[in-house]
Amino acid sequence: MRDVGMKIYIETYGCQMNEYDSRLIASILASDGHGMTRDLGAADVVIVNTCTVRERAEIRVLGRLTHLRGLMRKDAVLGIAGCVAQRMGDRLLRKIPGLSFVVGTEQYWKLPDMIESARIGRAVVAVGTGSGESYDRRPAPDEASLCEFVSVMRGCNNYCSYCIVPYVRGRERSRATSGIVDEVTQLVALGAREVTLIGQNVNSFRDEGRGFAGLLSAVAKVEGLQRIRFATSHPKDLSDELIEVIGSVAKVCEHVHLPVQSGSTEVLAAMNRSYTREQYVALAGRIREGIPGVALTTDIIVGFPGETDEQFRETVSLMNEIRFDSAFMFHYSVREGTRAAEFGDDVPKEVKIARLETIIDLQKRVTSEVNAALIGSNAEVLVEGPSHRNEDLLFGRSRTGKAVVFPGDAGLTGRVVNVEIRSTSAWTLHGGNPLLS
Ligand code: 5AD
Ligand code: SF4
Repeated sequence: MRDVGMKIYIETYGCQMNEYDSRLIASILASDGHGMTRDLGAADVVIVNTCTVRERAEIRVLGRLTHLRGLMRKDAVLGIAGCVAQRMGDRLLRKIPGLSFVVGTEQYWKLPDMIESARIGRAVVAVGTGSGESYDRRPAPDEASLCEFVSVMRGCNNYCSYCIVPYVRGRERSRATSGIVDEVTQLVALGAREVTLIGQNVNSFRDEGRGFAGLLSAVAKVEGLQRIRFATSHPKDLSDELIEVIGSVAKVCEHVHLPVQSGSTEVLAAMNRSYTREQYVALAGRIREGIPGVALTTDIIVGFPGETDEQFRETVSLMNEIRFDSAFMFHYSVREGTRAAEFGDDVPKEVKIARLETIIDLQKRVTSEVNAALIGSNAEVLVEGPSHRNEDLLFGRSRTGKAVVFPGDAGLTGRVVNVEIRSTSAWTLHGGNPLLS
């Protein structure tokens, strides 16, 4: 007989897609009669959903698995999901004592059976790819937060030379528009007011001739939904049509996350990014022109193989030229199996760290200047609830994705308010009393 009513504990690392997948795993297991718990000691099954994008993330998560094995109940089973599971497969069973199952990114439907086997002492691994799995038929969610993620496409065909994602997430495939709109409608009925449409490269979304701009327009028709965000965009295929839709469809927020990776055209070519510095700058200009008040954020890698001082300075000069609202910054990490792994990792660690510190300092200064320029303006904020730092204040995000704290009653949670920006600190805008919009 099958066990039902088991308590499942899930810990999630990595990107928004992994956050989404953990919810997906929860709904697959819920439809098999199991429930979630946040209490490790109460859990019958512990799942760690992992990220392998940089080596450090992977090492940390492997340590965490061993640590969890020591903390959880002895009769509970431990499993690994996500990108490290996909990359390492059954090698993980030998590496991590007490690990009972390994489930890759395209195999989550198998989890109920896998857990069943693990519970009777049979370790199981399912990491096949190429099924084209897009989880279009995901079981309906049974609860929603105010701000939710919805996956619109999975996988990546770009093969940036440094990146492991195409190997662990497979080829690009889009969900059907109708499935996405249904899921957003269900989430709104359960209380969501904002959705972030996610994919490794949302601009490659295709469904029966419809591109991503068309999808945004379709999702915007969902009644009760107030805001739409999206990530991530690849500069090579962000269309003018999309800029037009962001600029004109009221629900679509004015924030474009547009990873540049480097300011040097030569490094971009070695990275296989398919655009030049000049093309990126021109695109950023079109975005800013077409979407007044837009926030532009980015990802940057320093210390890519062969990156010279001169090429690094081009990244610095690009950051000064564009003045991003914020940036995620990394030093290059070799990923086995990628093209760049064959280039050799020739920028010394100390140089990588020094370059990273330089751009982090620069971006901190630019972010605080860009934010300080907002003092005196009004921000439209979706109230998410009391601030974690100070329960007397409310927290929410502006349409541009910036954190805003301001005085107000917790009863405003879920409402859209207008807040005048009075001051700013490192990453946060501080507002006055809210006005209902
Ligand atoms: N080394 C360092 N950073 C990387 N990223 C992806 N692969 C690597 C790597 N091998 C960064 C890129 C990407 C972000 C999600 O992670 O900047 O946009
Ligand atoms: Fe990490 Fe990439 Fe996998 Fe997301 S898709 S969890 S960033 S490796």
